[in-house]
Amino acid sequence: MTELHAGLKGVVIGQSTICFIDGERGLLRYRGYDIEDLAKYSTYEETAYLLTYGKLPTHGELRQFSQALKEHRTLSGTELEILHALPKEAPPMDVLRSLVSVSALFDPEADDPAERANQNKVFKLIAKIPTILAAYDRVRRNVKPVAPHRSLGHAVNFLYMLSGEEPNETSARVFDVCLILHAEHGFNASTFAARVTASTLSDLYSSVTAAIGTLKGLLHGGANAQVLEMLQAIDSVKNVRSHIEGMIARKEKVWGMGHRVYKTKDPRAYILQGLIEQLASVSGQDPLYNIAREVEKVSIELLGKKGIYPNVDFYTAVAYHMLGIPLDLFTPIFALSRVSGWTAHVLEQYRHNALIRPQEQYVGPGERTYTPIDQRTRKDER
Ligand SMILES: CC(C)(COP(=O)(O)OP(=O)(O)OC[C@H]1O[C@@H](n2cnc3c(N)ncnc32)[C@H](O)[C@@H]1OP(=O)(O)O)[C@@H](O)C(=O)NCCC(=O)NCCS
Repeated sequence: MTELHAGLKGVVIGQSTICFIDGERGLLRYRGYDIEDLAKYSTYEETAYLLTYGKLPTHGELRQFSQALKEHRTLSGTELEILHALPKEAPPMDVLRSLVSVSALFDPEADDPAERANQNKVFKLIAKIPTILAAYDRVRRNVKPVAPHRSLGHAVNFLYMLSGEEPNETSARVFDVCLILHAEHGFNASTFAARVTASTLSDLYSSVTAAIGTLKGLLHGGANAQVLEMLQAIDSVKNVRSHIEGMIARKEKVWGMGHRVYKTKDPRAYILQGLIEQLASVSGQDPLYNIAREVEKVSIELLGKKGIYPNVDFYTAVAYHMLGIPLDLFTPIFALSRVSGWTAHVLEQYRHNALIRPQEQYVGPGERTYTPIDQRTRKDER
């Protein structure tokens, strides 16, 4: 019998040139470039270009790429009408999943598999997701959506569309770096979902819709919002130890801790801590950061022997909280960034396609004799 690998743990299912992760040493590289360098020197647009084309752009290439994104930022009247028609309490992640799917219906190239059409869809998906989220957030608050600003970059334009005001330089840069950090991460669950969808030769919108639905889960992108709720519930540094001990005793997961690949602290968590310090230098220290650091200390003490350390979601929650972003936008913002990784993977899947179709180990009943319905009885029905 073929060996069983529950959850595909440790299984290598394909080759990729996009992302390198060393989970033991805590290394992450996009197309060969270290995440620390990208966080220090790059912008989200440049990183998205790198993921899409496999090389860093020249000035001219980056200008063209950024321009293409700007051209596709605006939502159509119908898309805005749909946002207005949705229930105001609809979770933004579900709205995003639905609107990405709906966008395909208005795109004449949606089912065109040509490389050029797919390239256009990459621009449209990266460009539109921030507008969908910012517009929906305003519609549900009964305020008018803010149109995209033509001269603002990708990250800062999102914050502008969300609040109607341009953020200060530090907030803008911190948010841009957060997007860089979340843009790509190998064959994680949502990227895998996108690649499975693409492997059937389904279209890019379907692949990204599948990925959004997968990212939503609490064990994946949904964890960042859970982290904030956990930190808020702990409320004070002095409560940390008893709270975390209680969670572990009840066999609950400590949110933002542990990772399928990293067996040490996620390199992105270190960078995020630096970003939090930058935000604190402008707006003052957030008490949640002290709680978070204590949670990290106690969790490593209690769980470190199992290889459980802070992952990217842990400090992202504090950073987004300090940026004033609503809790239920945390996970959709993960999608807003990760879309460039998803689309790079989908294009790679198309170029070297093999249908992804694993096998299961059947553990159900052996062969049974079919009984016609009027001859069936159940003991508990007699
Ligand atoms: C990310 C995650 C799903 C990886 O899980 P995985 O590789 O399938 O590992 P498992 O869930 O099988 O965990 C292995 C062991 O570590 C424990 N563990 C893993 N993460 C834990 C956490 N966050 N808190 C407490 N215990 C944890 C499990 O209970 C299990 O213990 P056991 O062997 O005694 O039963 C898991 O660490 C998790 O659920 N973390 C919290 C959610 C989160 O932050 N997700 C974002 C990931 S970027």
